[in-house]
Amino acid sequence: MKGPSSVLALARPAVLALKPYTSARSLATEGLLLDANESPWPLRSGKSFSGLNRYPSPQPPSLRTAAASIYGVKPESVLVTRGSDEGIELLVRGFCEARKDRILFCPPTYGVYETAAAIQGCGTVRLDAAPPDFRLDARRILEAVGGSKSRPVKLVFVCTPNNPTGTAYGRSELLALARGLKGRSLLVVDEAYQEFSDLPSLTKDLRAASNLVVLRTLSKAWGLAGLRCGFTLGDPALIALLQRIRAPYPLSEAAVRLAASVFHPGGVKRMRDSVKRILKEREALAARLAEVPGVLSLFETHANFLLVKVVNAELLLKTARRRGVILRDRSGEPGLAGCVRVSVGSPAENSAALKCFSEALG
Ligand SMILES: Cc1ncc(COP(=O)(O)O)c(C=O)c1O
Repeated sequence: MKGPSSVLALARPAVLALKPYTSARSLATEGLLLDANESPWPLRSGKSFSGLNRYPSPQPPSLRTAAASIYGVKPESVLVTRGSDEGIELLVRGFCEARKDRILFCPPTYGVYETAAAIQGCGTVRLDAAPPDFRLDARRILEAVGGSKSRPVKLVFVCTPNNPTGTAYGRSELLALARGLKGRSLLVVDEAYQEFSDLPSLTKDLRAASNLVVLRTLSKAWGLAGLRCGFTLGDPALIALLQRIRAPYPLSEAAVRLAASVFHPGGVKRMRDSVKRILKEREALAARLAEVPGVLSLFETHANFLLVKVVNAELLLKTARRRGVILRDRSGEPGLAGCVRVSVGSPAENSAALKCFSEALG
């Protein structure tokens, strides 16, 4: 594979040399289709089964175009994936050679970066971010990336707003980091929670920064976690590279149809209304949690969850579980002793969560 982009110089040689698998439906979608050993008819009649006897489009043009329009990029800059988790996996698989290359991230952060690296057999560089503000230390990141030629750091993951801290990082700070990494690493900005933040997204900067990759998802603000649909956005050459290693048919036809029915520029208002309600609930929940005596601190959040430091996380989690309320224990992560993450739910769910805090810590 050849291409003008310097990002390709960072890819694994085996991926560049690969002859990608060509699926039947990437070659033909019309005509008398006797090329994919499909059934000639769906198992049942009815609208929801119609067409499901056929393999789906590997990259549905409707979703690619909708994503391009919503995120302000070209369709060639979009890879549609089975959730943004698949985007993380593909990036690691495409760029990191086992036992040689490494990825860098700043804990506490989303756990799948580390897991994807472990599965691939590549190394990790962990630069802990410190409470209470969990700032990014660009100087340390650049030093770590520049300092090891024999074990190159190919991918730097930054999650903003960050899971589980809720911290958001500014656009100019991230763009400066991308510039500093150019030629050595890709900066992967995971914007899974971006719609909840008032800081700008980096999607419109992709054209100017070829080593920048942005991950987006329908699982959070769009309320479609069960659909498994996400997007990897980046330089067209990088997206073309990832197309070579993705699954032959990453998305189910049923999911694509459902996504197409809501994920379009006209559907953005519906999503924004939902975000507004969640943010209002978040403020109400935070205010009430702050009054519970055993709550030591609430970290500033730009997402649809709160990270809460309490006097006794174990007791809180036990009490909540007894009441059927499931919270996320984050107390084992660097800098997060005593911390529990609570997603913002409906008013009734938030009241139930609050009762657990009051009973365990009040
Ligand atoms: C930061 C972050 N990135 C990515 C994901 C995965 O999202 P998806 O459902 O799109 O795979 C999550 C899910 O919790 C997340 O918190």
